[in-house]
This record gives sequence, structure tokens and C-alpha cells, in this order.
Amino acid sequence: MAEFILPKNSKIKKGNSFNLEANVSNSRTFIVYRYDPDTGDNPRLDTFEINLDECGPMVLDALIKIKSDLDPSLSFRRSCREGICGSCSHNINGLNTLACTQPIKDLDGDIRIYPLPHMNVVKDLVTDLTKFYEGYASVEPWLKNDSESPEGKERYQTKEDQEKIDKPSACILCACCSTACPSYWWNSDEYLGPAALLASYRWLQDSRDEAKEERLKELNDSSKLYRCHTIMNCSLSCPKDLNPGQAISEIKKMIATHDFDE
Ligand code: SF4
Ligand code: SF4
Ligand code: FES
Repeated sequence: MAEFILPKNSKIKKGNSFNLEANVSNSRTFIVYRYDPDTGDNPRLDTFEINLDECGPMVLDALIKIKSDLDPSLSFRRSCREGICGSCSHNINGLNTLACTQPIKDLDGDIRIYPLPHMNVVKDLVTDLTKFYEGYASVEPWLKNDSESPEGKERYQTKEDQEKIDKPSACILCACCSTACPSYWWNSDEYLGPAALLASYRWLQDSRDEAKEERLKELNDSSKLYRCHTIMNCSLSCPKDLNPGQAISEIKKMIATHDFDE
């Protein structure tokens, strides 16, 4: 039987503990993944007890408090604090989500915060998203239209056509979906993953775009698209309630029914 054992330098060790005084009643424990490639040390899990009476309500508030008050060396991404920029995505108690919109009170037990799964770690909770963005750029997520716009003005859409792209346009590129997708874990060199495919779907559905055939031809590839096996982890993990898994199925249907020129 195959045995799967982590290499010695990947084994996660017990890290530092920051405990509160015994008389603090409203506290929670946060267990946070730490890794600094510059030290050559193994990854470790640090434990931080936080007084919730002195902390905001979201997991991101706890991370900010840890960095401000307990360990300034902790690295993580964040910007908007409003679920809009997509930068504070982490694996929190086993699920990929945004730290800034995840209430602490909705989580049970100790709160475990890891980087997004199956990504190279730059430091602590910061992952390397280069490949993720390359996949996004490869679907050419912009309007392609060589026709003159009517009377030199904007290209109008009907309300119904706008509604078709309303949801997929709400993607904030947080990568929660792609890094929850087993097919993306094992094939991210070739498979585009749910976020990039949702972006492509958004332009395939845009009534103003004239590159539908070109886009479909580009996607009609066993690796780029058909590595999706409809497991649907992607849609379950999306913090914006989008449905990239369904969008991927729609793209497959478009390819199957499109009347290609040649
Ligand atoms: S539906 Fe497709 S893209 Fe979504 S998790 Fe499953 S395999 Fe990945
Ligand atoms: S589809 Fe959802 S989970 Fe995926 S990148 Fe967009 S917002 Fe994030
Ligand atoms: S900080 Fe911007 S989405 Fe969380």
C-alpha cells in the first residue's frame, strides 16, 4: 500500500503561544499557520488567545489585533475590509472564505487560520497567486468588438442582457473557488480553474462581445476546460454566492451546441 509522508522540512511544528491572563472571560483561541522561507525553519502553528471585548467581530479583526498587539511579524493580505477587494481569503476552520466577512461568533471552537490550500506560500498566510492571475489573463477578460459603436456612443444593452452578466461580473477574484477545486490542485499548470472560467463565461454571455466563437475555440481543450468534473466545491466555497461550477457546465453546453465555422 502506498504511504504518503510529508518531507521532514514540510512537517508542521508546534509554535509560540500567546496566552491571556486567567481572569479574561470573553476570549477565543486562534491557531495560525506560520512559515518564513528565509529562516529555513519548518512551518509552525502559533496559538493566540484574544480578548474579544477588545477586538472587532470578524476574523480579519483578530488577525489585525494579533499583528498590532502580539506579533508584528505576522503576514497576511487585506485591503478593503468590506468583502470587495478579494485579498483576505484564507482557509478558516477548513473552509476557504474571506476573513473580513467571516464573523468570529459563527465559528465553533478554536479558530484555525491557514493559507489558501495547495498554493505555494510566500510567507505565513500569503500565497503566490501568479498562476491564478495568469489563468485569468489568459481568457482575455475584456470586451472584443470591432464594430462602430452606435452614433459614437456607448453600446447599450437591454435589461435582460445586462442581467445575464450581472452575477458573473460580481466576482472579486478572491481565489476561494479555484483553491477549493481538486482538479485545480493537481492540474493548475493547464486547467484554468473555476474563477478564470467564470470570467470567460461572463464575456461569452455579454451581448456586446463579438468574439464568442474565438473564445469557445480557445476553451475547447481537454486540459483548460474539461478537467472540471462537476464536483462543485467551487460554488460551495464562493463568499459572493456565485456559481462558477454552473458557469463551467454552461460553457460546455455552448461548445456542444455552437455551429463552428470550420
Ligand atoms: S465543479 Fe469543476 S471547477 Fe468546480 S470544484 Fe468541481 S471540478 Fe473544480
Ligand atoms: S467566483 Fe467567487 S470564490 Fe471564485 S474568485 Fe470569484 S468571488 Fe472568489
Ligand atoms: S479585505 Fe477586501 S475582501 Fe477582505
